[in-house]
Amino acid sequence: MTSHPLRRAYAARRFTPAYEQAMDARYAVTRNLSDEVLDPQALARAAEGSEVLFCCLTEKINAEVIAHLAPPLKVIANLSVGLDHIDLDAARRFGVHVLNTPDVLSEATAEVAMMLILNPCRRAYESDHLVRSGQWTGWTPTQMLGLGLTGRRLGILGLGRIGQQLAKRAAPFGLEIHYHNRRQLPPETEAGAVYHASSDSLLHHSDIFVIAAPSTPELKGFLDARRIALLPKDAVVVNVARGDMVDDGALIEGLTSGKLFAAGLDVYRGEPNLDPRYRALPNAFLASHIGSATIDTRDAMGFLLLDGLRALEEGRRPHNLVV
Ligand code: DGY
Repeated sequence: MTSHPLRRAYAARRFTPAYEQAMDARYAVTRNLSDEVLDPQALARAAEGSEVLFCCLTEKINAEVIAHLAPPLKVIANLSVGLDHIDLDAARRFGVHVLNTPDVLSEATAEVAMMLILNPCRRAYESDHLVRSGQWTGWTPTQMLGLGLTGRRLGILGLGRIGQQLAKRAAPFGLEIHYHNRRQLPPETEAGAVYHASSDSLLHHSDIFVIAAPSTPELKGFLDARRIALLPKDAVVVNVARGDMVDDGALIEGLTSGKLFAAGLDVYRGEPNLDPRYRALPNAFLASHIGSATIDTRDAMGFLLLDGLRALEEGRRPHNLVV
C-alpha cells in the first residue's frame, strides 16, 4: 500500500463532470483537454511526474509507459473492468498499483446484453430502417419474421458478475440459461443455470451465445470457424466483452452463409476501426461499446476509483485492487 497522500495526477481522457470534480477536489490534475486518445509515447510524455494516472480502456499502458512513469507513478486508476490494455506484470515489477471498476457496471452492461439479444432476434434494426427509409408498405403476414426468446437456450461464456446479471434479466424472458466457466459455480449462484464443463458443449447447446468473459490471452480469437460450426443452425452471437475474442472473418462468414441468424455486437477488434464488412450486414446489430454508458454508472465507476485511491493512501486494501 502507498500509505501516504498522493497529489499529482494526470487524467488521460475527459470523464463525467461529477467524477472530474471529485478528482479535482483531491488531486492536482493535469488533464488531456483534447480528449484525443494518446499513443503510449505521447501518454508517457504527458503524464510525466504524476503519482496517479487516471485512464480508461483506450490507453495502451505497456511496459515502456510504466517504466517511463514509475517512479513517481504509484497508482493507475483505470475506468473499466477490463484490463487487457494494461501490462499488469510490468505494473507489478515497477511497484505500481492498478485499480479497476468491477460490480458497479454489471447491471448496465447486462442491460446492453439484453438489447443485443432482443434487437437481432426480433430484427429491430432492420425494422427501424424499413420505417425510416420510407420503404415500409404496411403489415404483411411474412414481414420481418424473427426469433422469439421463449424456450430458447441462452449460452453465457463467463457467468461472472456481468453474466449473472444477464442471466437474472434473461430468465423472465423465458430463456433457459446455460454457461461455461472454468469451475462450476455453487447452486445458489448458478440459480438454475445449466453448467457445461467445456466451452464446446456450451456452444453446441446455445441458440443464443453471449461472450461475457474477460479477454485473457487464452481467449483471444476464441470464437473461430471451428467453434461457430458447433453452434446450432440459426444461432445468434452476442459480444459484450472484447472484440479480440472473435475471429471477425469467421463470424462474418457465419452471418452471410446462413449458418447464423444474426449477431449483436458492442465491442470490436481494433475499435473504432472495426472490420468494415460488418457495416453492410443487415443481420448484425452494431452498438458502439456502450455497455457501461449511463451517467450513473460512469459516475459510480469514477467514485469507486477514488474510494480505492483513498484506501491505498490510508494503508487499506481496496476491493478493486488488481495489482
Ligand atoms: C469495461 O469496463 O471493460 C467495459 O468494456 C467498458 O465499460
